[in-house]
Amino acid sequence: MKNLIKILCIFVMLNPINITSKNNPPKNIKIDSGIKTPEINDFEEITIIKTKNKKEKNMKIEEYKIKQEIKPASLSGISDNQINDHWKLYEGYVKQVNSLNAELQKMAQDGKVNELIYSDRRRRYGFEYNGMILHEYYFGNLSAASQKLSDPDLIKAIEEAWGSFDKWKEDFIATGKTRSIGWAILYMDPQTKKLTNHFIAEHQDGIISGFKPILVMDVWEHAYMVDHSATDRAKYIDAFLQNVDWSTVEERFNK
Ligand SMILES: [Fe+2]
Repeated sequence: MKNLIKILCIFVMLNPINITSKNNPPKNIKIDSGIKTPEINDFEEITIIKTKNKKEKNMKIEEYKIKQEIKPASLSGISDNQINDHWKLYEGYVKQVNSLNAELQKMAQDGKVNELIYSDRRRRYGFEYNGMILHEYYFGNLSAASQKLSDPDLIKAIEEAWGSFDKWKEDFIATGKTRSIGWAILYMDPQTKKLTNHFIAEHQDGIISGFKPILVMDVWEHAYMVDHSATDRAKYIDAFLQNVDWSTVEERFNK
């Protein structure tokens, strides 16, 4: 009997029994049923999300406005009819950008961000946005009261890049004659203040990220076909250069 008691004691020591009761539940034991019981903090979180969603639904993207103040008139060699016709296209881009933003926002609210149509609309951003913004640069650097280039820093930057203003002009004209629809742009690298001429096909192909456009010339046929034939791009470029407001270009360069 003594031996039996000894054996039982050893067994208990090696296998401790966890004695629990309803009033004394075991601590540190978690039963994971896969269902999380909400705690106070979770309810707060849900309320915040609900409020945020309501706010998000009521958020309205600010619409772009047509910049009437930059519309040029009475230019030399570019008629008002030409500008008026071209201006309508610019207005169209502003309208398209606003519709695109509204459409994308609606699709996002409706949970359609992973649908093909959403990706397709996103792809149009570069074309529509640049179509609007480049026209604003373009009309903004044309003026009947155009000022000649006089800023010594800009003159120096042009001479450093091309040797002389005339050489820059020659290169800019050649850029504008690129056999494609698009834009000739004098860009400044804001980090080095160095200048380069670039051709941008359509409105978006060839844009240098981070570079600043300081002189923008539209060479789509629509920019000159009220005044000239499709083969007369050179005449239009010549007229464009006579109307460049260099004070605006200088301002962009120095800003
Ligand atoms: Fe245009």
